[in-house]
Amino acid sequence: MKKKITIAIDGHSSCGKSTMAKDLARAIGYIYVDSGAMYRCCTLFALQHGIIADDGSIDEAEFERRMPEIQVSFRLNEETGRPDTYLNGVCVESEIRTMEVSSHVSPVAALPFVRAAMTAQQQAMGREGGIVMDGRDIGTAVFPDAELKIFVTASDEIRAQRRYDELIAKGEEADFDEVLANLRERDRIDSTREVAPLRQADDAIVLDNSHITIPEQNQWLLDRFEEKTQALSSTTSK
Ligand code: CDP
Repeated sequence: MKKKITIAIDGHSSCGKSTMAKDLARAIGYIYVDSGAMYRCCTLFALQHGIIADDGSIDEAEFERRMPEIQVSFRLNEETGRPDTYLNGVCVESEIRTMEVSSHVSPVAALPFVRAAMTAQQQAMGREGGIVMDGRDIGTAVFPDAELKIFVTASDEIRAQRRYDELIAKGEEADFDEVLANLRERDRIDSTREVAPLRQADDAIVLDNSHITIPEQNQWLLDRFEEKTQALSSTTSK
């Protein structure tokens, strides 16, 4: 049997990484982990417990003290065929996708103690390989030795349109300019933070998916996976 590899998919906000990562994992029988959902859970926890004030300021000492209380897990939803996110045993899949969480998540994800806790949970989930994880720092910090690394991007307007359509389809209120400003601001914070900033790993393959369809992008990714696993099996059989 072929060895199961580790696949890291990083990139800018709202560029469809999770769709492609989920579809690939399902097609090849790997586990999918949405690392962004984990930072969103930390943000939801902080909002629920008064750790983030109305003006957006964060009580860092209290947050760090309560970090051990945050356990994130994923369980397959039989209806959608995709994993739902659980925070301390409660399904929070829709709560973590609101604009409120989106507008606070990047400052939360920049806190070193938050990153340390989530990175440890992510590395534990990927210990056996056979995993597709998407995020910002998977190929650079979480799994620097991942066999396949992809870096995805698309133009700001196209990304904002996709996120706007997604929110509207879920029946949420959304304003295009607010969505665009939010993703630009998150990219700025994510790329300039001190710990594990968003950047392309030197050995990542870049995909600009501004003008390709979901089936085309899925096929592209599957081709990269096949290429990589074939290259690895020919080097190990030599
Ligand atoms: O899906 P979307 O692009 O909106 O973002 P996400 O993947 O759900 O991630 C939400 C936020 O979590 C990002 O804007 C980052 O601030 C943070 N994040 C991170 O710092 N590191 C990761 N590996 C994944 C997400």
